[in-house]
Amino acid sequence: NYHVLGAKQFEREQLEELFDAAKAMEGVVKRGGDRRHEGRIMTSLFFEASTRTRLSFESAMHRLGGGVIGTENAAQFSSAIKGETLEDTIRIISGYSDVIVMRHTDIGAAKRAAKVSSIPVINAGDGAGEHPTQALLDAYTIRKELGRIDGLHIAMVGDLAYGRTVHSLSYILANYQDVVVHYISPDNVRIPENVKQYMDEKGIRYAESNDLDSVAGSIDVLYQTRIQKERFPSLDEYEKAAGQFIVDAELMDRMRKDSVVLHPLPRLGEITEEVDSDPRAAYFRQAVNGLYIRMALIDKCITESQGK
Ligand code: CP
Repeated sequence: NYHVLGAKQFEREQLEELFDAAKAMEGVVKRGGDRRHEGRIMTSLFFEASTRTRLSFESAMHRLGGGVIGTENAAQFSSAIKGETLEDTIRIISGYSDVIVMRHTDIGAAKRAAKVSSIPVINAGDGAGEHPTQALLDAYTIRKELGRIDGLHIAMVGDLAYGRTVHSLSYILANYQDVVVHYISPDNVRIPENVKQYMDEKGIRYAESNDLDSVAGSIDVLYQTRIQKERFPSLDEYEKAAGQFIVDAELMDRMRKDSVVLHPLPRLGEITEEVDSDPRAAYFRQAVNGLYIRMALIDKCITESQGK
């Protein structure tokens, strides 16, 4: 089976193929979708809240002619609440559908699921671990907005410890030449050592600081993130991290005219609404790109697993 479990599994050639496939999906959507996966079923298994990831995956499957099953909140309404293991849940769903999209609270949950699944598993976020499909749509957006990824200076800002999207995005960016990453965070949510170790292994230049102002005028991409309140051990620790980096009109004035601002969303005030009308604010366009990337991923998973 072709699973999507983490961003390290993607090499440059596969990324280019996926981005070409996503571009083609933009055309499919414009034509009102197609029926290529009619009769196929995607299970949407979300143990954590989601707006974009779940609904864009479900929309993607419908756009490809397939059906979707799932509970509104798997933590509450699946038999997990009765004590069923994740492994048994996955074994059962494997018999009902053709692909599983899963978000879970535990790091590594998607890998556990894939071990017992007879159908492809797509990781839609595993705790504070990874969010590979988000990183794929982020990279697709950067390429679409700026025409390239090689050579870009990218600032990842905010909660770099619990924010899983920046882990996955780092792994994706490690495929590109001469990229420079600025990790800018409060001291208690710095980028994890294992991510830095991977960047070192791949020879990617990066710097760590808590100073957004000093890089704002030179970066190509500002990737802002939410402080993940729900993952902190205490309210006190959360409050130490909250509110330190705000993207507002004043910061935008200091950024380059050809730069772009991204955010995986949801936001909680770390980008002020006055920024939304700036043409460099790409975060809503980024969310739409999630549909195309996820259509391409579903298509690849089903096609490669079933020889369809
Ligand atoms: N970006 C993202 O994962 O959003 P949701 O939590 O709404 O899916």
